[in-house]
Amino acid sequence: MPTCPHAATSEGGTAGINGNPQAGWLPAEQEGSAQGQRAYQETWTSTEIIRIMLDRGVLSRVVAIANGKGGVGKTSLATTLSGLAAAAGYRILLIDLDPQGNVGEDLGYTGSGTGDDGAGLVTALVAGSPIAVTLPGIRENVDVICGGERLDDLAGLLLSRHRRGVPVTDILAAPLADLLDRSDYDLVILDCPPGEPNLQLLALGAARWLIVPTRGDAASLKGMTRIAQRLVEARNHNPDLELLGVVLFDIASSATRVKREISAEITRALGGIAPLFENTVRHSIAATDSRRRGLLIHEHAAQMEGEPFWQALREGRRPTSPGSAPALAADYAALAHEILTRINSLEAATAEDVLA
Ligand SMILES: Nc1ncnc2c1ncn2[C@@H]1O[C@H](COP(=O)(O)OP(=O)(O)O)[C@@H](O)[C@H]1O
Ligand SMILES: [Mg+2]
Repeated sequence: MPTCPHAATSEGGTAGINGNPQAGWLPAEQEGSAQGQRAYQETWTSTEIIRIMLDRGVLSRVVAIANGKGGVGKTSLATTLSGLAAAAGYRILLIDLDPQGNVGEDLGYTGSGTGDDGAGLVTALVAGSPIAVTLPGIRENVDVICGGERLDDLAGLLLSRHRRGVPVTDILAAPLADLLDRSDYDLVILDCPPGEPNLQLLALGAARWLIVPTRGDAASLKGMTRIAQRLVEARNHNPDLELLGVVLFDIASSATRVKREISAEITRALGGIAPLFENTVRHSIAATDSRRRGLLIHEHAAQMEGEPFWQALREGRRPTSPGSAPALAADYAALAHEILTRINSLEAATAEDVLA
């Protein structure tokens, strides 16, 4: 079973959260007015207080998956890591912070009418009410807070807040800490959008760890430079945030020379040491196929392996071979193991530091 999710962090502490996390969201019509100015001051003050009171210990198992570029495997990693860790006994909360809402495609709820396109999350963050799980038990041990197009509204509000110089980094952190205080999740995974810097900051403000998936091409590496800038910015408010590692996506595991070159590029792009995960995610059309079916790759693989050929014939379907689904699922299983082991060993090292 997973080890204690409330492992020691550099801040430790159990102060808890007092007050209304989102008090003082300024209605647009008040901006610039004397009343608006007052509300602004109140917002600033309450945000500062919350930052001091925020118990980052409960956020120690929050992992953001981000890159400033789309199509680099963020959502695939977020959903598959969630599913695999859940199968291993971790209680998972998966939060979709992307207006594209692709988590729903991987988990098969897009178009089912069960999601809310991020409406619940946006309402809670704007009103300062507790965040609620949108889809509890979408898989065994996996709860989801939905994303989708309603997050565009939030991005607009965050931008106005950011322009006024009010940090956006605590807007998710505070209510998420409150939710985690009342629940028993072992791991929280945040799927981040490629654009919308303020939504990325919102995620990085709440996260303990950042995982950056990337392809090896120049545009993806540029996306890494952008997310590195966000990391630096977020750390001003969330000093616990650390880069857990970089995942090479859509690459042949045998491509040693290419991997070495990309590794050097990544280190340059991130301006320092970039811990690369040893396990990579191979290119495979099985990924597209499983998303189309609303299945995670290991679920897809198990289904393909478990189905005798005669069954498809009997049901009038064209029999297919398991193809590359099991191999891709194996990549993710090895990667998930490496990620969870790295979190565990870094937590153990931090706990030792605190005790020393
Ligand atoms: N292993 C893979 N090989 C090839 N294509 C993949 C693989 N995994 C996912 N894809 C496809 O790549 C695209 C981007 O993946 P996604 O995880 O949504 O990236 P992001 O969240 O960074 O935009 C999707 O169309 C997906 O179906
Ligand atoms: Mg995505």
